[in-house]
Amino acid sequence: MLDLSKTDIERIKCAKHIVFFSGAGMSAESGIATFRGKDGIWNKFKPEELANFNAFMKNPNMVWEWYQYRRNIVRHAFPNAGHLAIAEFQNYVPKVTAITQNIDNLHKRAGSHNIFELHGNIERNYCIRCKTFYNDIEEKVEIPQCKCGGLIRPDVVWFGEYLPEDQFQGAEIATSECDLFFVVGTSAVVYPAASLIYTAKYNGAFIIEINIEKTEISSLTNKSLLGEVGKILPEILKKIKE
Ligand code: OAD
Ligand code: ZN
Repeated sequence: MLDLSKTDIERIKCAKHIVFFSGAGMSAESGIATFRGKDGIWNKFKPEELANFNAFMKNPNMVWEWYQYRRNIVRHAFPNAGHLAIAEFQNYVPKVTAITQNIDNLHKRAGSHNIFELHGNIERNYCIRCKTFYNDIEEKVEIPQCKCGGLIRPDVVWFGEYLPEDQFQGAEIATSECDLFFVVGTSAVVYPAASLIYTAKYNGAFIIEINIEKTEISSLTNKSLLGEVGKILPEILKKIKE
């Protein structure tokens, strides 16, 4: 049963701008592993050996191979009912923004238009020397090189790196303007991304969390819905269509 009152549903129906702030749990039902928790990526691999610039310079082939492996998973995955529900909200709400920490491109593939990618996109790559972008890269295990001779890296944010400024600024503006802010499938422990939840709060947005368990920020929210995003979001959508 959906734990939302009639007033909550009315609030969603009347919202002018809804932001969905997503994390790895958003794509869990698409078969993409989360980072923390029982089967989390960071239980099996060490971020300090794979997801930072020094590791890349020390062992570029190993880091490249790991991203090729993840790229392959993403390529064969499909948006789930949660991603599709967010895209469908666009038909019922004047403005919908998806702000994601995920690099899997699934919000876009589901049909969302207004997207801010805080941690980059695994389908894009760029040369570390001349910054030329490469979208489609042949499937090779060996790390490719740019025409200029520089190494090509995935366009994702590694530990110790800044978030893409335009994406974070856009996300902050949308967050401070919205009247309803959904926090979906994130442990909300990685900053500065998680700071958006506080921005939403201070600017008076109604905050609804969807997660299979309580998180660090559950007590900050107006509603904390326990369950899978691929089930709960379609249920909410059904209610607002009624
Ligand atoms: P985490 O792995 O930290 O958290 C995933 C969250 O999703 C947890 O709170 C789970 O309980 C929840 N969850 C799992 N399955 C779910 C489902 N089906 N429905 C709803 N919730 C579900 O992932 P993030 O919060 O995204 O950064 O992690 C943030 C950042 O840490 C990532 O972007 C990545 C990582 O290091 C970079 O790579 C820069
Ligand atoms: Zn180059």
